Amino acid sequence: MTFYLTTPIYYANSLPHLGHLYTMIVADTIARHKRQQGIETFFLTGTDEHGINIERAAERNNRTPKEQADYVVSYFKKMTAEFGLDTEHGGYDIFMRTSEPFHYEGVSEFWRRAARGKTPKGNDAIYKGHYEGWFCAACAAYKSEDEYAKPQNAGDPPTCLIHDIALDRISEDSYFFRLSDYGDALLELYESRPNFVQPETRRNEVMSFVRGGLQDLSVSRLKSSVSWGVPVPDDPEHTMYVWFDALTNYITAIGFGNEQQNRAVGFEKFWPALHLVGKDILRFHAVYWPAFLMAAGVEQPRAIVAHGMWLDPNGRKMSKTLGNTIDLDVLSKHFPVDAIRYFCLRDMVFGQDGRFGYEALIDRTNSDLASGLGNLSSRTLTMIKRYNSGRVPSGVISEDKLLLAKRTGVDTDATTIAGFIEHARVQYLQELETYSFSRALEVAWSIIARIDKMISEAKPWELAKDVNQSQTLSAVLYRAAETLRWLCVMLYPVMPAATQEIWSQLNLSEKLAELDPANLKWGELKEGAPIGEVKAIFPRIDKAKTMEEIDRNTEDRSQKTEAGGQRSEVRDQKSEAPLPGRARDALRGSSPTVSEGSDPTTPVLGQHATEADAVLGASQPAARPAPPQHATEADAVPGATGVANFIDITDFTKVELRVGQVLTAARIPKSDKLLLLTVDIGEEKARQILAGIAEHYTPEEMLGRKIAVVTNLKPRKMRGHESQGMLLAASVGENDKPVLATFAEEIPNGARLK
Ligand code: MSP
Repeated sequence: MTFYLTTPIYYANSLPHLGHLYTMIVADTIARHKRQQGIETFFLTGTDEHGINIERAAERNNRTPKEQADYVVSYFKKMTAEFGLDTEHGGYDIFMRTSEPFHYEGVSEFWRRAARGKTPKGNDAIYKGHYEGWFCAACAAYKSEDEYAKPQNAGDPPTCLIHDIALDRISEDSYFFRLSDYGDALLELYESRPNFVQPETRRNEVMSFVRGGLQDLSVSRLKSSVSWGVPVPDDPEHTMYVWFDALTNYITAIGFGNEQQNRAVGFEKFWPALHLVGKDILRFHAVYWPAFLMAAGVEQPRAIVAHGMWLDPNGRKMSKTLGNTIDLDVLSKHFPVDAIRYFCLRDMVFGQDGRFGYEALIDRTNSDLASGLGNLSSRTLTMIKRYNSGRVPSGVISEDKLLLAKRTGVDTDATTIAGFIEHARVQYLQELETYSFSRALEVAWSIIARIDKMISEAKPWELAKDVNQSQTLSAVLYRAAETLRWLCVMLYPVMPAATQEIWSQLNLSEKLAELDPANLKWGELKEGAPIGEVKAIFPRIDKAKTMEEIDRNTEDRSQKTEAGGQRSEVRDQKSEAPLPGRARDALRGSSPTVSEGSDPTTPVLGQHATEADAVLGASQPAARPAPPQHATEADAVPGATGVANFIDITDFTKVELRVGQVLTAARIPKSDKLLLLTVDIGEEKARQILAGIAEHYTPEEMLGRKIAVVTNLKPRKMRGHESQGMLLAASVGENDKPVLATFAEEIPNGARLK
């Protein structure tokens, strides 16, 4: 039995961030789980290297497109090595690059077959025509009228609803794929294979998109417009549309259309694949790709499984435009890889969007890993060292000691515990099969809670004081250690390094990567075997200190870059001087993509699909991302003066502004300037606020007024009164006369200004 799993191949014009890492972690977990089951697994990841976007990025960075791709690939490889996702660490089997000669050969063959193919309606699947329309380089997608915003000035190009960048006008001869003939065939495919697109909600979205009618797709560009691409067979004046080329990587990588690669991997052996993708690129995988495969007469994929998107703590999709992506260097510096893996799988409900915040990551690590699994491991093994000379104790309680054991509340045989854990194992594996990682881990942690409870109730440290209870003590410790053994096998795909560490401390030598959790049997931990050295697995993270370090770290990196200093690991040696504002913004939250700063279109690449919930790529106007603030505009003007004075949206959102209503107002004795107000800002208790407006507003004038309040300022004492906020007012004239900001419409107290 074989299993073939793919991630998207990532664009080779922007550097990896948490979003890419997440897809890799999910895929890696699935692959390890399959391998444990003894299934020969082939796991593909890689880079999508052709197209106008890479060509432009290369040009801006004064590189050839191949050099540009090599540069980005080096960062993806750095990420996969650092996070234990590469071949060396038991992760992917191939890092596929579409610039590989064997891919050129394979994709040419695929084109030829599709071009020979007939649609379900008997027409030629590929035909030559003329394309007239708009194209978003960042999406690498053609845009219909409902997918772009009309320009403000007549004569300007429209802008992409997703990226807010100007679209390219295309008017040229082009090959078309007759997608419009495939609607019924695709619907039949989704109907006959309900698991073809997962999860269910995504399947429904895909089906309604197809039911809405499909249009033919331009699948080539003139070489004179886009030269960095695979030439169309027998018509080298055209290059293939980058998605046609990129999707085909999934079959060329395993040998389609190239004998040598076929011998090395094996198309027949591994195809069909399970494609794991972000929901942003679902349309390409669940609609276009199946239709291409039908035309070329190639079997359909096993399934297309779409995950959700990481959002920032404010609920916005992480993107370089907003500067809110997570810097992989900061992540790996402050957190063990397995804590990151665990957090990603536990906190994100698979298929839905999830919010990322460092504090949440620290909290999870401390509660579930340091106090949970880590603590169970170290307390169990330490007690075995202390109470049983470092050897696995016996789990058996003899007849004559049963009563004694019972008296301390310990079950006299292990079946209750074993039964609980066996049942949890079944549930855990079922959840894993449906990619419900979060629920699977909840189940696994119910085992930890159960054993913690057993230990706390039995109190081994008390039992150790009573020689008559030595068997009870041994049985409790055995059960805990046996549970640890099970947890290692079960959790290996999620946390390969930490489970291996506990495994070694248990002094077990079989390969975790090859042990199927379904085959675990209770009681196979050998009595009398010596355990290894005991070490803490997940040291507790000091939240305040780490948060401070993370802040400082991002700040430092930003300053260095602003000063033009070297950020050795991430700096692009060849690129122009970094844009100061942009550099700082990108670093404050996020990804090591600063060096790409000279590329005005880069910020959104890799994010090209949607805001939180828009699916099926570009089609939904509602998916318009946050307004085209500074990032895009500033970046578009390299070297623009004043850029350094801009703040990032993340800076702005640090300030919490709310609508408040003045409930009481009074003057403060001996102060001409201050009014003492109580203001309802929608919280249970009204806030007390001191405002320096007494010379211009009477208390009576203030009563009942709706005002704008800064609500997250540190409280401050003035004249013996604590002020728990600040009013917003304009300063007018030489005397700075305050004029309160207020609202023209009815508005509820507590409404947020943003
Ligand atoms: N090159 C295309 C894919 C071609 S596959 C034949 C592409 N590349 S990309 O670099 O933009 O990567 C998109 C993928 O990266 C998403 O589908 C998802 O797997 C991952 N992610 C990028 N940003 C993400 C988040 N904010 N959150 C979760 N995953 C994200 O599209």
